[in-house]
Amino acid sequence: WPAHAPLIHAINDLKRQKNAVILAHNYMTPEIFHGVGDLMGDSLALAQMAAKTDADIIVQAGVHFMAETAKILAPEKTVVIPDMRAGCSLAASITGRDVALIKAKYPGIPVVTYVNTSADVKAEADVCCTSSNAVQVVEWAAKEWGSDTVIMIPDEYLARNVAANTSVRILSWKGACEVHERFTAEDVAALREAHPGVIILTHPESPSAVVKAADFAGSTAAMADYVKREKPATAVLLTECSMSDNVAVEAPATKFVRPCNLCPHMKRINLRNIYEALKYERYAVEVDPNIAERARQSVQRMLDLPK
Ligand code: 13P
Ligand code: SF4
Repeated sequence: WPAHAPLIHAINDLKRQKNAVILAHNYMTPEIFHGVGDLMGDSLALAQMAAKTDADIIVQAGVHFMAETAKILAPEKTVVIPDMRAGCSLAASITGRDVALIKAKYPGIPVVTYVNTSADVKAEADVCCTSSNAVQVVEWAAKEWGSDTVIMIPDEYLARNVAANTSVRILSWKGACEVHERFTAEDVAALREAHPGVIILTHPESPSAVVKAADFAGSTAAMADYVKREKPATAVLLTECSMSDNVAVEAPATKFVRPCNLCPHMKRINLRNIYEALKYERYAVEVDPNIAERARQSVQRMLDLPK
């Protein structure tokens, strides 16, 4: 941390000068999350805050689809991402053309897209969801379209985990998060044996066997809330590594046991490139206005759902 102090100071100065905010996802390293983040949270919270902020510049400390979502919701603002290569295995697994073909094959069945997708996928889909509202969105779409079936793209595991919590029939795509798909039920059993009484939390992007074996599954914000509320003596966050580091700052009573997996895309963002992003206002994220307008409808339908 002390080595980071001059950069943290310089970033916070630049933010004030330029009326900029840093949207920081829960998977950012702690010097970013706690040192320079202004608006922090899970994908849903970041989208809600991007829609509301009155800053002139949004720096997305997260991955590309998050920056694109911010730009879709705040088209008049400058949205920058410190490294354009910060992608996502889920977003890379499907294109807008794929969605158009799915819609042609299954007319009348609503397509719910996870927020972890590109703008052209959101533009072709009917409504967006995140891990914190997926069941609610699927049930809303089924009712709205008068269909007992919903197509949920692109995360196969998230779709299965949602299917376990709703009577709506779900058809899915074959995408997966490269971080969460690697956890196994055997990992959970080994952790329970090594740490009796441990509370195990995971994300619904994990395989269903992992979700079933864990004590809790929820979005990154839901996991953080659970630990802060329940204060378990020992916890494992079976998710991206920075989650434990960030939650530990606010949950001093809990001992965090690893394992965790790193997301190589999230880890492309660091204090140095955040500083440069602010200084040079790079790399600007743009979305074709025709795509952006249709993508905004999908995201807005989600944001407009009753709380
Ligand atoms: P949430 O923060 O919405 O739970 O998403 C997790 C994730 O993997 C984002 O990349
Ligand atoms: Fe994508 Fe998974 Fe990384 Fe999130 S953690 S950005 S879902 S690869």
